[in-house]
Amino acid sequence: MILIIGGSGFIGYNLHHSFLRSKQEVISTYNTKKIEEKNFIHLDINNKNNIKKLIRKLKPKTIIYAAGITDVDLCEKNKKLADKINHIGIKNIVEITKKSKTKIVYISTSAVFDGTKKSYTESDNTNPISYYGKSKLYGEKIVEKSNMPYLIIRTDQPYGWKKNWHHINSVLRILEKLRNGEKQNEIMDWYNTPTYIEDLVINTKKLIDKEAEGIFHLVGTSYTNRYDFGKNVAEIFNFNKRHIKRIYSKQLELPAKRANVKLTSGRKIKNNIIMSNLRDGLKKMKKSMNEEEEFRFRNDLFIEKLNKDTKLKKISKEFYNKSAKHEYSYHFSWLGRPVIQYPQDLIALQEIIWLTKPDLIIETGIARGGSLIFSASILDMIGKGEILGIDVDIRKHNREFIEKHKLFKRITMIEGSSTDKKIVRKVHQFAKGKKNILLLLDSLHTHKHVLKELNSYSDLITKNNYIIVYDTIIEDMPKNAFTDRPWNKKDNPKTAVREFLKKKNKFEIDKKIENKLLITSCPDGFLKKVS
Ligand SMILES: NC(=O)c1ccc[n+]([C@@H]2O[C@H](COP(=O)([O-])OP(=O)(O)OC[C@H]3O[C@@H](n4cnc5c(N)ncnc54)[C@H](OP(=O)(O)O)[C@@H]3O)[C@@H](O)[C@H]2O)c1
Repeated sequence: MILIIGGSGFIGYNLHHSFLRSKQEVISTYNTKKIEEKNFIHLDINNKNNIKKLIRKLKPKTIIYAAGITDVDLCEKNKKLADKINHIGIKNIVEITKKSKTKIVYISTSAVFDGTKKSYTESDNTNPISYYGKSKLYGEKIVEKSNMPYLIIRTDQPYGWKKNWHHINSVLRILEKLRNGEKQNEIMDWYNTPTYIEDLVINTKKLIDKEAEGIFHLVGTSYTNRYDFGKNVAEIFNFNKRHIKRIYSKQLELPAKRANVKLTSGRKIKNNIIMSNLRDGLKKMKKSMNEEEEFRFRNDLFIEKLNKDTKLKKISKEFYNKSAKHEYSYHFSWLGRPVIQYPQDLIALQEIIWLTKPDLIIETGIARGGSLIFSASILDMIGKGEILGIDVDIRKHNREFIEKHKLFKRITMIEGSSTDKKIVRKVHQFAKGKKNILLLLDSLHTHKHVLKELNSYSDLITKNNYIIVYDTIIEDMPKNAFTDRPWNKKDNPKTAVREFLKKKNKFEIDKKIENKLLITSCPDGFLKKVS
């Protein structure tokens, strides 16, 4: 039986399905990204007791360690985290399995080399220059010294189709930009040996099946810079090559150093390992586009066209302005509570909650509580997470309705202004220990208030999570659309977002969401933390 630690990850998940396809018995673990498939179980690699229990129960013949922190800059900034996952995790496994003679397979990286040599085979000396590389090398050394049968698979830039919870890879990042008709900057002075994920998976499986041992370099056969890489992607997927623009790494001021490492293998021929060159790998990827990916691809193209349809955009804007006069958003409810949102925005919120699976949703502005119930219901279906609502005035009857609701178990409410120092402190206190937070700002819509909210709570948001700033639309509506309110054009959530983004705070507007909604209260209000 094969146990994959980090089976929810890009490489682990592809390995899992490759074993399943060949009818081998495989169990895989996830940590934060719950996988709703059989043969997947939860495991935090830092919990030694749980590892022990799991290994005693399953008695795996082979353990593949595909868990890791792959963000090179994050590892440089958070060395403790890099240590915890990239080598203390494997140390825990080795300590527990040492006597059992289980085979350990450790997925490693080209970053264990410094790039001073022209190319590197398995027998070359290591010398990492980034903390990511160092932490992975520590992991390798633990495996090598374990006295257990082992395989260390070093790879580089794996690419291929991914599931929506996986981090993006180089090819998909480029395709996403090109599909949106945008230009993509690619780095001239970074070189890699990009690896088609299917080649990596098939050959790792082959090495495990034939009980091979030691270090193996499993990488594509093309050594290329990112700019040429991008051009090849554009060409093979039939996009305009000229949309790939060259830049140099020094323009990026990144925390971690990258080495240009050409991995080659001295063990490939003997072990019958066949890896594709870049163009063949990309062609295979294009050919293997499955129904689901084709659906996404097609949708992206339609959304791109939709956004060039100026007539439709004009009608959508008109619909918004006219329907707002009839208090359109007040006409809907969710599981019995008035929700006061445009239905499109609820769908967008549902997609974000499902994608990010937050431990905590903070929402300012409770009103009648429908939005709290909405978020709570999605969290309840996911099976984790809480929601914290803040409102300056929680009316008695609203409070009673919310407290009586079946989903109240996931809800906490705080009364007070979301910008009051005491409330901000309370919220931070409540958020302590919660890693994954989504922030919804829907209280007082003045520039000053929203900006203060953004400045008070945005630091709680981690990479790839969102802030949704509601009613940014006020800036796009006719002047004095709200005569009885303290906000107006030039003084509203959108102007606050603009000022907030002037600071280098790692948030970007996720245009893709509003591009597909067309009708939304939040244009420029879907903010994603990108690093
Ligand atoms: N991707 C690359 O460019 C690349 C290149 C060369 C080598 N590698 C190596 O290949 C390995 C896998 O890479 P990948 O791209 O598949 O990474 P990935 O998609 O980021 O997956 C990482 C995996 O590690 C798991 N994990 C993180 N913290 C954990 C914890 N505390 N306990 C248990 N599991 C935890 C994640 O679980 P959840 O997501 O469920 O939290 C996920 O399954 C890494 O070790 C990396 O160094 C990757």
